[in-house]
Amino acid sequence: MENKELPPRPQLIDFHGVSMIDCFTDNWENIQNFQARPDDILIATYPKAGTTWVSYILDLLYFGQTAPERQTSLPIYERVPFLESNFHVIPSGTELANKLTTTPRLIKTHFPIQFVPKSFWEQNCRARNVARNAKDNAVSYFHFDRMNKMEPEPGDWNNFLQRFMDGKMVFGSWYDHVTGWWEKKQTNSNIHYMFYEDMVEDTRRELDRLCSFLGLSSSEEEKERVKLGTQFDNMKNNNMVNYSTIPVMDFKTSPFMRKGKVGDWKNHFTVAQSEKFDEDYKKKMKKPTLQFRTVV
Ligand code: A3P
Repeated sequence: MENKELPPRPQLIDFHGVSMIDCFTDNWENIQNFQARPDDILIATYPKAGTTWVSYILDLLYFGQTAPERQTSLPIYERVPFLESNFHVIPSGTELANKLTTTPRLIKTHFPIQFVPKSFWEQNCRARNVARNAKDNAVSYFHFDRMNKMEPEPGDWNNFLQRFMDGKMVFGSWYDHVTGWWEKKQTNSNIHYMFYEDMVEDTRRELDRLCSFLGLSSSEEEKERVKLGTQFDNMKNNNMVNYSTIPVMDFKTSPFMRKGKVGDWKNHFTVAQSEKFDEDYKKKMKKPTLQFRTVV
């Protein structure tokens, strides 16, 4: 699709105190009335924290053996519906989720905790959150907004970084998002909180933890297969998970599977930007138990 056929980039709106864009809010009523089922699994993340990686891991753990044809016939965004999405070119997230006949349903959301439909809590669904250190998260988000024409114009890196610090991003403030889910986890044992850095450091260890949280008794062989299939290079080359089939994404500007590293922020932040960011971070992040690593 040529750029000229695309609608203009969206503008940020303030939605119940969170910066959002229309395509994630205009199906609000259906989203809030969404009927979760007890065995649904919610994959909750701030954008660019490793959502697709964990989605694919879960899809392989649950369906890699029983429905292998899924892997080659359905792109990941149909296997794991994006709850709040309403892009008009494909069915909305709620429609896709309601159409799923497989169990468990794997459902993705970038919502901050206060926007999650209440039925997920009423049904005691399990949720796993992945969070990524703020600096790498900001860098990944910047490149994503450059290449994804459905996102607001990113502007230059310096302005983008200021917007990130101000929480003026689609899905709001990173700081509020990771803290909100962290607080909820303290009183809800159905939430498994994972860190992108831990997954990069030792994917197999994190897979074991995930299986234990989900009560899955996958064999050693199976877990090794999942680990191999979800390695960065394998996902980058897999058209069913690398988003290359989405016309609004311009892979010449930046691929969706970009680097997959911890510490790429060092290639983007100047010393002055890093110092300013760290100062601001200390003021915003007051939970001593929630610690991120910016290197592994
Ligand atoms: P980078 O832009 O830093 O490369 P999301 O799926 O939430 O949009 O997150 C995308 C980020 O996760 C991108 O980060 C992408 O490269 C990274 N990612 C995806 N699959 C990965 C994998 N198997 N291993 C490491 N990083 C991965």
